[in-house]
Amino acid sequence: MEIPYIHKPKIVVIGSCNTDMVVKANRLPVPGETILGGSFYMNPGGKGANQAIAAARLGADVTFISKIGYDLFGLQALEIYKSERINTEFIFTDSKKPSGVALISVDSFGENCIIVASGANQSLSPEDIDKAKDKIREADTILMQLEIPLETVEYATALAYEYGKRVILNPAPASSLNNELLKKTNVILPNRIEAEMMSGIKVTNLKSAHRAVQAISCKGIENVVITLGKEGAFVKEKDKYIMIPAKEVDTIDTTGAGDVFSGALSVSLSEGRSLIEAVEFANAAAAIAVTRIGAQSAIPYRTEINV
Ligand code: ATP
Ligand code: RIB
Repeated sequence: MEIPYIHKPKIVVIGSCNTDMVVKANRLPVPGETILGGSFYMNPGGKGANQAIAAARLGADVTFISKIGYDLFGLQALEIYKSERINTEFIFTDSKKPSGVALISVDSFGENCIIVASGANQSLSPEDIDKAKDKIREADTILMQLEIPLETVEYATALAYEYGKRVILNPAPASSLNNELLKKTNVILPNRIEAEMMSGIKVTNLKSAHRAVQAISCKGIENVVITLGKEGAFVKEKDKYIMIPAKEVDTIDTTGAGDVFSGALSVSLSEGRSLIEAVEFANAAAAIAVTRIGAQSAIPYRTEINV
């Protein structure tokens, strides 16, 4: 039997590594309030790490560029990435700062609130990116988020652009971005809040999603995907606009849904699929993740996805 050749895409993920401290509760507290929660979990997380693991489990050859502290959390994270067959050659250590930590509350609908103590993530520098230049040159796609210094994201984007690489940016957490960065980005993946921050348009329905996508695209990006939680994603691929609904599932915990979506979309695009096909694949992967607890523990493997 002839075995078809499948190109295993090379993806470089540049981003954060955190340890997540998670408490489940019936509802999220309001400012000034203390409430009693339920179970406590300590899970590996960080948007960068979650996206790197998602890309690896879904079929890519992944190099993760990140920074940890010289502590137990950082060393544990490193072991996890190795066990996921991620190239950890460019995970640097800052001996003066602790590894990143995220405090996460999850309500009974699976919605979350997150505060990140960035620690060593904030020391990932343009000089670190330079050390991984050859990997960036070899890659199909560079995937980034905003839990590391913006200066580093801008530097890596400019380098990837110079090498003619596909740059995918998940602009989370929301931050103001300059147009120079956006013009060198091929695909941007904001959620509802980040889309509002970038466009000034509150996304409440299809019409406002369409307007927000147009406003973001006007900043110089051809391909925009606004993720809309359980509703799915609104996509602009060149001059096509389309809403792609999410799968209906029993939601347990949405932490990291956006990360699985970003990792999956990067794999699918790097395999040569269109943006619309890649969003269908990403919706399917993220829908599996929300039915499970935690960030990395919830990430599906390629064999679980039927798209
Ligand atoms: P998070 O911060 O919780 O990781 P996010 O805010 O970055 O997520 P969302 O827009 O909430 O991103 O979700 C990303 C994608 O995950 C959605 O576009 C959708 O495909 C999937 N998703 C999220 N929530 C659900 C849900 N309840 N049911 C099915 N799919 C979901
Ligand atoms: O997107 C989810 C992630 O955001 C968590 O794993 C947490 O570490 C924060 O970075």
